[in-house]
Amino acid sequence: MNELKKLSVPYLLESADLNRDDIKIVFDKADFFMQNYKRGEKFSDLKGITVAMAFFEPSTRTKLSFDIAAKRLSADSISFASSTSSITKGESLIDTLHTIEAMGVEMYVVRHKNSGVPKFLQENTKGVILNAGDGKHAHPTQALLDSFTLYKHFGAVKGLKVCIVGDIMHSRVARSNIDMLKTLEADVKLCGPGTLLPRNINVWDCDIIENINDAIEWADVILVLRLQRERMESGILPSIEEFNRFYGVSLEQFSKKQDLVLMHPGPVNYGIELDYRIAPNKNCLIQTQVTHGVFIRMALLSLLGSDL
Ligand code: CP
Repeated sequence: MNELKKLSVPYLLESADLNRDDIKIVFDKADFFMQNYKRGEKFSDLKGITVAMAFFEPSTRTKLSFDIAAKRLSADSISFASSTSSITKGESLIDTLHTIEAMGVEMYVVRHKNSGVPKFLQENTKGVILNAGDGKHAHPTQALLDSFTLYKHFGAVKGLKVCIVGDIMHSRVARSNIDMLKTLEADVKLCGPGTLLPRNINVWDCDIIENINDAIEWADVILVLRLQRERMESGILPSIEEFNRFYGVSLEQFSKKQDLVLMHPGPVNYGIELDYRIAPNKNCLIQTQVTHGVFIRMALLSLLGSDL
């Protein structure tokens, strides 16, 4: 497989940028890299291209996997940390972008606490922006690696019953997964306390399952979210213990259904949304998601960098 297939967009800002054909192209390319990397092959898709990792918010998985992906494609990868940059002296975001651009950087992996920053940057550069998570808005590469993990595990995503559980209101992962899973024709439902469901829930067109046991009974897959205490207004969640009692997934609940698959984007608050005893189970795919993240990001960098 090395015929040149192209995505219908020259950037990636949100899941809705990708149609079903695009997603298939990304999955095939990720599969290609996964098989050939295991055989020891080297790749030069991004030789001569510099990729900036511009993270204005903390990250472990996304930043490191994009960095590894860029290096495996022979790109030059640079890291930009806002806390040690001239942004602390008052330089604007747009001036920062144009400064980095003047050094010959052509691809930007951007994470920011404010929704809309990657789109704003894309509108102001000739380079390629990949959204690595913006506020509560979108995390499209997480959604791609989650769907790829389901595709590899089940052989298809179409028709799968996926329940997204927990802190849905604050979650860009939930938003991006709902869009992507619907594009791939999965059946998506949501389960969480009323105070952690978005007020405009009707826009998402997903049924709500109120009880975690009912969610487990219905689903083929539960996608458990991190409780994002750093994004919460005070009072929205009166008690962490109560959240754990009603919406945390215990080993006993998980074990009730033999083929139930569990995913979590990480980082996990063990003891809050998830029982730590679930982690070693073969149907707990958290580590597989992380591994797939590198190949999905290699695929995206290669596909979006092919015209530079
Ligand atoms: N899932 C995810 O985005 O993790 P990081 O914040 O560690 O990148």
